[in-house]
Formats: sequence, structure tokens, C-alpha cells
Amino acid sequence: MEIIRVPRIMQDTSKTFLLHGKTIGFVPTMGALHDGHLSLVRRAREENSITVVSIFVNPAQFGANEDFNIYPRDLEGDTEKLIKEKVDILFLPDASSIYPEGYLTYVNVEELSEKLCGAFRPGHFRGVTTIVAKLFNIVKPTRAYFGQKDFQQSVIISKMTYDLNMDIDIVVCPTVRDKDGLAMSSRNSYLDNSQRQAATIIYKCLKETSESIKSGIIEIKNVKRFMLDFLRKEPLISEIDYAGIYDISSLEELSAEKENMLLAIALRIGNTRLIDNMLINIKEERKY
Ligand code: PAJ
Repeated sequence: MEIIRVPRIMQDTSKTFLLHGKTIGFVPTMGALHDGHLSLVRRAREENSITVVSIFVNPAQFGANEDFNIYPRDLEGDTEKLIKEKVDILFLPDASSIYPEGYLTYVNVEELSEKLCGAFRPGHFRGVTTIVAKLFNIVKPTRAYFGQKDFQQSVIISKMTYDLNMDIDIVVCPTVRDKDGLAMSSRNSYLDNSQRQAATIIYKCLKETSESIKSGIIEIKNVKRFMLDFLRKEPLISEIDYAGIYDISSLEELSAEKENMLLAIALRIGNTRLIDNMLINIKEERKY
């Protein structure tokens, strides 16, 4: 695996690959890699001749009171994992090469960036779309891989590539979970044992809500109340940012049934903010 730190060198390397008719599969990450990240890497490797992974803890997507400084970093472990997965290139830029002094340009997908997590993390998605647009211009991928775990992020990035005519396929991959259902996340490492146990309520709530909707036990207009009541049974939850059912494209809250719907939750256990979601396809489920 080659490690490239300089954007210009990454660009030139990608240009050469493309000139030789290779396809480039790209997985942007912030490191502290787990099986969720690696599932994207495997998919990228299956579908492309060259696989590029980036690790960059992007300061622009963290709020002033958020966890940028303590965000888990494990470059040695990450490098080992990526070598095992036979990744071709690890792109590892410095903050100063991405945001040099005098940097002024930001990309923002309006409206969608204000919904769900955006309402609780002002500026977060502007930071995400800015870094992803920059990484796309540097890595020049044929396809880029994102996790359903961050569903809103994948919707916003798909919209950005469409609106800005970026010629890149966005591939969204399923959420990888621990055995007890908790979605893998670099932030899970902040949880102590009892908090880790408490966090399992998130997936239980998504599953129970999804099954109750499919079997017609609850109506869409009552879903939010049902989810909040379910989550409030767990005393270690310190705050619920949102829980409910949403349109998969506009991310607007739903009050009536649609064919495809998104159940989504964001909450805090202690100081740790956790998110998860589940898609519901009513037609697929109700075959009568
Ligand atoms: P990060 O949180 O490191 O996640 C990198 C990618 O891995 C994202 O596409 C995310 O959705 C995916 N991912 C995380 N946990 C997953 C899981 N349990 N199953 C499947 N996929 C999972 O998301 C970011 O970084 C950043 O915002 C980034 C896009 C790199 C921009 O800085």
C-alpha cells in the first residue's frame, strides 16, 4: 500500500490511473477504522481496479463544543487493517494542506443540511460537503462509497454530486452492526460498559417500530410518540435529539404512509452522541 500525503501527488497519481483506463473506488473516512469502514473498502475493491482510502479528521465538520480534540485516532492500527484489505493507496493529508492559510471556499447543500442532525450540529454538513468535494477533486474517483449508518450524509452527498454535475457514482452500503445490533461507530469507544449495554436500545427501538408499522399496529402519525416512549425506558439516555419517521429524499417528518420511509434516531448517552436508522419498504413487506 502506498501512502500519499500531498494533494497534488494524489491528483497526479489518480490522473495516471484514469489515463490507463483504470477505475478508482474511493472510501473517505476519519479513521479509527472498524468493520463498518472495512465493508466499504471491500465493496470498493470488488467493483474497481484501484482502491483509495482517505483518513482525515476534518476540523470543519466539528462544532466548537464537539469532540474534535478527543476523536479516536489509531493510524498504526488503521494502516495495518488497510494493508490486510489490499488497499492500493492511503491518502493521509495534513490539515494545513487541505485548509491552508487564507482558505475561503465552502460547499453547502441547502435545506437538507438543516434537517435531522443538521438542526443539532450547525455547520456540520457544510463541513462534510466541503471536505468531500475537495477529496473528490483530489482523488478523482469513479465510484465513492458511503455507509447507510450516516443516511443523511449519504443523501446530502448524492444531492451535491447531482447538483454540481460531479461525474461520480455514489454507492451507499448497509450498516454493519455488532452482534447485539449496535451500529459500529468510532464513537462507541467513548462508552463505558453500562453505557454500551444501554446503547442497544437504539437498534431495539428501530426494529420494534419497524415491525409495528409493517404489521399495522401503529399508524405513521403515532410513530414519533411510540419511539420516544420506547427510548425513555432507558435511564442512561441523557438526551434525545430526534426520533421519528421521515421521507427518504426530503428528510421531512412524515404523517402519512409512503412506500419508502426512514426511521432515524439521534441521542446522547452521557456525552456520547449516537445515531442510527432503518429503512422501511412497505410494498416489499406487505405482499398480500
Ligand atoms: P467516518 O465516520 O469515519 O465514516 C466513514 C464512512 O464509513 C462513512 O461513509 C460512514 O457512513 C461509514 N460507516 C461508519 N460506520 C458504519 C457502519 N457501522 N456500517 C457501515 N458504514 C459505516 O463519515 C465520515 O467519516 C465523514 O463525515 C467523512 C465522510 C469521511 C467526511 O469527513
